[in-house]
Amino acid sequence: MGEADNLASASAYRTVREAAARLKEAGVPEPAASAEILMAELLDARRGDAVRLKEPLTGEQAATYGGWISRRLNREPVQRILGYTYFRNLKLDIDEHSLIPRPDTESVVSVALTRIDERDGSCRVLDIGTGSGTIAVAIAQERPRCEVHASDVSEGALDVARSNARSAGVEVRFHHADIAAGLDVLCGNVDVLVSNPPYIASAEIEGLSSEVRDWDPHGALDGGPDGLGFYRRIFKETPPLLTEGADVVLEIGHDQDRSVLELGRSFGFSPVGTTSDLTGVPRVALLMWGAGT
Ligand SMILES: C[S@@+](CC[C@H](N)C(=O)[O-])C[C@H]1O[C@@H](n2cnc3c(N)ncnc32)[C@H](O)[C@@H]1O
Repeated sequence: MGEADNLASASAYRTVREAAARLKEAGVPEPAASAEILMAELLDARRGDAVRLKEPLTGEQAATYGGWISRRLNREPVQRILGYTYFRNLKLDIDEHSLIPRPDTESVVSVALTRIDERDGSCRVLDIGTGSGTIAVAIAQERPRCEVHASDVSEGALDVARSNARSAGVEVRFHHADIAAGLDVLCGNVDVLVSNPPYIASAEIEGLSSEVRDWDPHGALDGGPDGLGFYRRIFKETPPLLTEGADVVLEIGHDQDRSVLELGRSFGFSPVGTTSDLTGVPRVALLMWGAGT
């Protein structure tokens, strides 16, 4: 009798409890959530229902789940094990080229949507550093009258983003570009610029959790020596793309609100303010291109 057959006699309930205990023992963060979410996805059930199921798993289910728990023990994030995650109304595929979309970034989309609504719901939007297409695909889905463009320097990330846009049934125009270089086609036409750029200071990366440091692409994290390198480049390089009065919506690190607004001011943008994420941390900086009112 193989290990899978042994496991097959166990219920989801018992298997999850044992997996959570192993993960906890190994010091893996959020052991219960990891074990429960993986079981729920395996059984295509709601999390609360999956963990109560008393009937035995099949051998195949037990083997798949066992493999997933081994990967989690190696600190691979749940979303990478599954190959997808949920963001707003979307199920987004991710691979080794894409940052895992974070709940924090939902606040960025919310702010961008309010600015789009101020423009009657139809304007030209550009998402710089789109990763898996997170922000661009969400905006295209929720404000279908917008013309949405998205760029990334990573071809691998763009492939995943294109596929996510197709799956969501939305049109996003993708560009391979290094910040503004490669986006001449948009010259003077962008009404809402949105970005979640890499913003971790280089020296802080070593101290991040293994789930982030060892599994997210380095190029999606490293914001240079002070973490502000990409904001500096965005403020310096994007003005030729923007309409006068364009909104600029940027995700920021937990302590970067003042520095980003001031940096923007020094490049001729008008700071409007910041919005906090669901945990109360300033997470989104809003600026306007030009002198403002
Ligand atoms: C923090 S991730 C954000 C990904 C996605 N927008 C999200 O919120 O899930 C930053 C993204 O910027 C991209 N990036 C890094 N350097 C870039 C550059 N010079 N020009 C354009 N994109 C860049 C990375 O490849 C990565 O996809």
